[in-house]
Amino acid sequence: MSMTLRIAPSILSADFARLGEEVRAIEAAGADLVHFDVMDNHYVPNLTIGPLVCEAIRPHVKIGIDVHLMVEPVDSLIPLFAKAGANIITFHPEASRHVDRTLSLIRELGCKAGVVLNPATPLDWLDHVMDKLDIILLMSVNPGFGGQKFIPSTLGKLRAVRQRIDAHQAAGGQPIWLEVDGGVKTDNIQQIVRAGADTCVAGSAVFGAPDADGGYRGVMQSLRQAANQ
Ligand code: DX5
Ligand code: ZN
Repeated sequence: MSMTLRIAPSILSADFARLGEEVRAIEAAGADLVHFDVMDNHYVPNLTIGPLVCEAIRPHVKIGIDVHLMVEPVDSLIPLFAKAGANIITFHPEASRHVDRTLSLIRELGCKAGVVLNPATPLDWLDHVMDKLDIILLMSVNPGFGGQKFIPSTLGKLRAVRQRIDAHQAAGGQPIWLEVDGGVKTDNIQQIVRAGADTCVAGSAVFGAPDADGGYRGVMQSLRQAANQ
């Protein structure tokens, strides 16, 4: 596959007491994006970080911040994250009353926009918004926690979305990234990339990397190598 793979470490598995240092370390180790998981204890049964933390890490890295909103409602938080330095903002469409409006709002604020589909959420949500998407994120675990096991049926779903994106671009449409989130490891990344993903989130795989194996740089290299084999 000739596509360049982007790796987006999820800071959900980072040491939050040393977050500035952690994001600098993943950038130095070759990360393409910082994946930033926002959970509200309403849309998902967990509570994490908001725009203040996004603003705090922004000056520490040059790479883009990929904000994954697991919140309901969605719209009121978007301007806050755009102001806090987010580069990509994705949301779960069933958590927004007006998906088209939410996508437009994200783009109007200068960010790349995308929807996130849970393992059981059908692809129909993409039908009427392809021209408004910069990225499609497929969840390969149920959202809410890091460190869960990859759900294999995501592979078929990735292939189906890859076909839709390729057909869209062949018909003159804009590029759309295809990202996968949850349980991505060195032992399954090859299948994931072959199924069509060009952007992989990896939380526990990156931040749980033992120093003895080269730490963050080592695991990032192993992920890229495994993907290319
Ligand atoms: C889950 C989050 C993921 C998570 C991934 O709701 O959206 O980004 O942090 O973590 P791993 O890679 O450990 O599955
Ligand atoms: Zn995520």
